[in-house]
Amino acid sequence: MDAGQASFDSGAFRRTMGMFTTGVTIITARARDGERIGVTANSFSSVSLDPPLVLWSLAKSARSLDVFTGADHFAIHILSAGQEDLSNRFASRGEDKFAGLAVDDGLGGTPLLADCSARMQCRTVHRYEGGDHIIFVGEVVDLVSSDDTPLVFQAGKYALAARKSSGEPLVASALVGSDFNEDFLGYLLWRARFQFAAQLKKDAAIRAFTDNAFLLLVTLAHNNWRSADSLALTMFIDEDVADTTRALAELEVMGLLERRTAENGEALVGLNDVGMERALAALAAAKATEAAFIDKLGLWDSTALKNLLRGFIDATDPGVPHPWVRLEGEASGVAQALD
Ligand SMILES: Cc1cc2nc3c(=O)[nH]c(=O)nc-3n(C[C@H](O)[C@H](O)[C@H](O)COP(=O)(O)O)c2cc1C
Repeated sequence: MDAGQASFDSGAFRRTMGMFTTGVTIITARARDGERIGVTANSFSSVSLDPPLVLWSLAKSARSLDVFTGADHFAIHILSAGQEDLSNRFASRGEDKFAGLAVDDGLGGTPLLADCSARMQCRTVHRYEGGDHIIFVGEVVDLVSSDDTPLVFQAGKYALAARKSSGEPLVASALVGSDFNEDFLGYLLWRARFQFAAQLKKDAAIRAFTDNAFLLLVTLAHNNWRSADSLALTMFIDEDVADTTRALAELEVMGLLERRTAENGEALVGLNDVGMERALAALAAAKATEAAFIDKLGLWDSTALKNLLRGFIDATDPGVPHPWVRLEGEASGVAQALD
C-alpha cells in the first residue's frame, strides 16, 4: 500500500463513520441580504469548556456555504425525537426551508427554531479548511435546553436513545441461541404485560371490568356503534368470537351497552351515555397508570420502548385489523341504526 493512499473507498468510510452514533442538529444563519438558511448536520461536536467552543463542518458543495462563511453568528438546534421530518426538510435543497415554521430572531438576526431538545447561539470564531468541508468553530454565547428525548442518527438511519438497563448488558450475540430463560422475548413481553395489567387493576375505574370487557369498552369509546360481527373479528380477545360475545354481554348487564340494528340488517353495539362516561373514567385511570410507569422508566426509555414495540407489532402482524378501525363495508354510525 502506498503511503498516503487510502485502502478503502468512500462508501466504506461512510459506513465506518456511521458506527459512530450521533445526535442530529439543524444549524441556521442569516445572510447579509436577510435570507434565512439552515442545514441538517451531525458533524457537530464540543471542543472546549472554557471558553465554551463547538465545531461542525459543512460540505463545500452546500448551497449555504457562502452565507455560513460570511455570517458572524450561527445557531445550533439539537433535534428532539419527534423532529425527523424537520431534519429531512433541512437536509434537502428546498427553496425556503423555513416556510410555515415558527421562527424567532436571535443574535445578528439568526433564525431560531422552536421545540428542540436544546439550542445554542454561537459567535463564529474560526473557519478551517477540512478537505471537501469547511470546519466552523463557534463560541457559545447563549443556550437553552429541555428534557425532550433527542433524535439519534446511527448507521445512516434515525434512532432513539435508550438508557442501558442496570443488569447484564444485552448484546446481539447473547440473543442468538440463548437458552429459554429470562432473556426469552416471550417471557419479557408476558411479564411486562402482567405487571402493567396488575397496576391498572389497582384503580377501581378499571377493576370493575374483566380484561376483555375493558378492551371492548376502550375500543367503543374510540369509535362507537360498531357491527358486533366485525368487532368480534377485530378484537384481540384470544381470537375467540365467544369471548367477544361474553364481554359484550358483561357491558350490557352493567347497563353500559346498547344494541341496535343497522339499515342493512347488521347488529350494531354501542356505549350509551353512562357507558361512555365509564369508558372515559377508565381511560383517564389508564393514562394515569401509564404516566406513573413512564415516570419510573424515564421519558427516554419509555419513548424507545414504545418505538420498539411498534416495530415488533409491525414486523409480526398476522393481519388482524386494529380494533378501533372500522372494517371495509362495516355498517357505521348511529345515523344508519334503527331502534
Ligand atoms: C442526519 C444528517 C446529517 C448531515 N450532516 C451533515 C454535515 O454534518 N455536514 C454537511 O455538510 N451536510 C450534512 N448533511 C447533509 C445536508 O443536510 C444537506 O446536504 C443539505 O441539503 C445542505 O443544505 P444546503 O445545500 O441548502 O446548504 C446531513 C444530512 C443528514 C440527513
